[in-house]
Amino acid sequence: MKYQSLALAATTFLTCASAFPRMDAEQLKAYNEASKRSAEPAACPYAKREAEAAADPSCPFAKIANKFKRSTFNAEQQHIRTDGEYAFVPPNFQSGDQRGPCPGLNALANHGYLPHSGVADMQTIIKATNEVYGMSLDLGGFLAVYGTVFDGNPLSTSPGYSIGGPSKDSQNILNGVGLLGTPSGLSGSHNKYESDVSPTRADLYLTGNNFHNVKDRFVDYYYALKENTPAPEQYTALAPFHAQRYEESLMSNPYFFYSPFAGILVSPAGYSFPPRMMANHSEEYPEGYLSRETFSTFFGVDTHESQNPQDFEVKQGWERIPDNWYKRPINDEFSIPDFLLDVLQHAEYDPRLLSFGGNTNGVNTFAGLDIGDLTGGVLNFANLLDPNNLLCVALQIAEAAAPDVLGSLYTDVKKAMTPLTDKVTQLLAGKGCPQLQKINSELFEKYPGYTESYGSYAGFSEIGTDPVDGVLEGVTGVLGGLIPTGQKV
Ligand code: HEM
Repeated sequence: MKYQSLALAATTFLTCASAFPRMDAEQLKAYNEASKRSAEPAACPYAKREAEAAADPSCPFAKIANKFKRSTFNAEQQHIRTDGEYAFVPPNFQSGDQRGPCPGLNALANHGYLPHSGVADMQTIIKATNEVYGMSLDLGGFLAVYGTVFDGNPLSTSPGYSIGGPSKDSQNILNGVGLLGTPSGLSGSHNKYESDVSPTRADLYLTGNNFHNVKDRFVDYYYALKENTPAPEQYTALAPFHAQRYEESLMSNPYFFYSPFAGILVSPAGYSFPPRMMANHSEEYPEGYLSRETFSTFFGVDTHESQNPQDFEVKQGWERIPDNWYKRPINDEFSIPDFLLDVLQHAEYDPRLLSFGGNTNGVNTFAGLDIGDLTGGVLNFANLLDPNNLLCVALQIAEAAAPDVLGSLYTDVKKAMTPLTDKVTQLLAGKGCPQLQKINSELFEKYPGYTESYGSYAGFSEIGTDPVDGVLEGVTGVLGGLIPTGQKV
């Protein structure tokens, strides 16, 4: 469990790796230049970006903006069906359907693009995220491999995972030789995949539930969405809201832990993916526009056609694709480099978003981890704003941490890790990353959010009377999330 955070962080980066070659040398150079100059307020500053960056060819965000400006709308190609076999059917939790922390995957299961049970094999997940949302195969492929290795069963003849908690269906689809116990699913993957600082889901240790949509948090997100604005600019404008969420975790959660993978790379997806992959596309907005109504539908919130939050009704697990919804242009899929630039863009607004570590002794006691110390000096990048450095660090740390995370889950850890190892190798090929063999994992011991395990993932009963006590009921809640098994990981 202790290493899960690192492993998750690495996995996210891996997702980026396969698409990474699409970031050409010129773009990378421009980004590096801008990163170096970012210490100077006037260089390529966040505040100026919306108005002026597009005019500055040395600013990488201008390239992204220009790319979107070139988007063309094709209704026939981009329309996503929500009728017939793809009509919305809400989950039946009584019969064991699983829904979890990811609204994107929950909606796919509610519309039959994924099995309604919420347990799916890797290929089905990669295909569905690509065809419905325009998520590139490299990004979808990495996320699916990571989820399968850490939350599902890579040894199965049909490797995959549950998008919620453990499921009886996991025993069928995920049944493979060498797996000890039941796969956790995404809901049970705290610090591996699921992280603190989510936009609408609460920090696990604060509420005992990391997969429900919390209405107050949803309302904050709703109002943070800039209206009548193209989706790329909507993403830029979400940075203060993102920073505010980070601040809330820091100041309210004594167990706040921001891991190299789940924290730095997965958590930002919750801010990037809605404008990038839930926005509706039209002739007026060929680059997409995420209206508050579309956003509400995708997050399972019935606004009752009101703009007053008092009227909003959150239906847990009822995430839905709106009717008359058009995805990204076919030739403009959302890839690993696109996502990396999104991560870096918000981190430029608030650099704490790139600092992994956590609270050490109560709230607001954050201590960052030095990459050099953690990796015995093998990786020592001062500037994580360089996407190449970020990729090397996250992927390699995740891979190095994986054996510790997986050691108690599989009889043959090396075999279970093979899909991850292969994917990391593929993504880092030609990147010139120094070769990391192991990490000084004892450095994580000072973080309660790392050492304390949770629910079925050990340590729960050891927590005793501290603030985490009492969360068990929440965890076994409506969505069939974590089920304590007493198994120590
Ligand atoms: C294989 C593909 C995917 C996997 C394995 C995955 C997994 C996850 C996980 C583990 C989280 C929890 C992160 C956290 O705790 O902060 C999450 C959150 C989220 N995901 Fe996904 N995801 C996938 C694809 C997508 C897609 C395609 C979209 C959008 C179209 C999406 C939208 C989101 C959003 C908006 C959140 C944040 C929810 C919130 O806290 O408000 N995801 N996803």
